[in-house]
Amino acid sequence: MNRVKIGKSQVTTAPLGLGTNKVGGHNLFSNLSESDGRETVRAALESGIQLLDTAFMYGKGRSEELIGEVIADFPRDQVIIADKAAHDFSSGEMVLNNDPQFLKKSVDDALQRLKTDYIDIFYIHFPDDKTPKSEAVGALQEMREAGKIRAIGISNFTLEQAKEANQDGYVDVVENYYSLIHRDEEKQLFPYLRDANISFVPYFPLESGLLTGKYTSDTIFAESDPRSKNEKFTGESFKKAMQAVDKIRPIARQHHVSVLQTVLAWYLANPDLTAVIPGARNASQIPGLVQSLDLTLTKEEYDLIDKSFTAL
Ligand SMILES: NC(=O)c1ccc[n+]([C@@H]2O[C@H](COP(=O)([O-])OP(=O)(O)OC[C@H]3O[C@@H](n4cnc5c(N)ncnc54)[C@H](OP(=O)(O)O)[C@@H]3O)[C@@H](O)[C@H]2O)c1
Repeated sequence: MNRVKIGKSQVTTAPLGLGTNKVGGHNLFSNLSESDGRETVRAALESGIQLLDTAFMYGKGRSEELIGEVIADFPRDQVIIADKAAHDFSSGEMVLNNDPQFLKKSVDDALQRLKTDYIDIFYIHFPDDKTPKSEAVGALQEMREAGKIRAIGISNFTLEQAKEANQDGYVDVVENYYSLIHRDEEKQLFPYLRDANISFVPYFPLESGLLTGKYTSDTIFAESDPRSKNEKFTGESFKKAMQAVDKIRPIARQHHVSVLQTVLAWYLANPDLTAVIPGARNASQIPGLVQSLDLTLTKEEYDLIDKSFTAL
């Protein structure tokens, strides 16, 4: 895999990473198997994936612990850990906290759970209402100067919040919701990030499975399946998304690859995206992700996919 650079930092990584909210993320998903989680991370690292996107919020530290167990078997410099914090449960209920002391403690605690002595990218997972953004980022800059993290990220920040956070030029990367279906960041955030030399990593790139090609407009989810109550997977928006996915199918067939691989190849070719972090539920899904690296779309194919979804 070729390598990409994270903002102005010294961190470089292969551009296809792995999202790990289903590795130990028991508070977010039901029926997760921890052995599947470990095997997913292992299969990813054995396939050349380096960037592992985790967070304290994925299992309240459990995702970090499981990742820590697996990476102990790999050379540390072959793994790029992206971690996040902001969720504070110390009062008994969850509050978002960007207080400098809280963020610094979060980095130290994460290092323990990951059993490592540095984290490659550390994100403020969500902004809070009270902390000046540049002070929150300043706390992470102190952690960088102490050698505990190598790059600074912010996640779920609006353009205005990102500008405030980057007042001193310390921010290297933004991770926000973005997919072929959800294109809000293109008009305003992307031009700013380009100018400020800040990387962008989209989350939900597969729209939680909607863009894998495994569903059609006839798919109906059982009442017991949470997707039957999710707007994304029902009604008119689901039908429209499936019609757009249908336009990708001939391109995928032509290249003898899946819709999922075609979608990932589109992200990998998109100059505004630095890396892409699809999530996987088990190790058997990893080869399907990695095969996307073998596909190079022509300009016509790239534009056709782009156009099929911009109209949504
Ligand atoms: N910063 C933030 O606030 C934030 C928020 C959300 C997510 N994230 C990060 O972004 C990552 C990606 O998001 P996500 O995992 O929720 O959603 P996603 O990447 O859009 O979709 C992942 C889903 O795609 C399906 N999939 C993956 N590989 C497949 C394959 N080879 N064949 C068939 N289906 C396949 C699986 O669906 P099934 O489950 O149906 O098998 C998997 O659960 C997360 O893991 C997390 O690290 C960050």
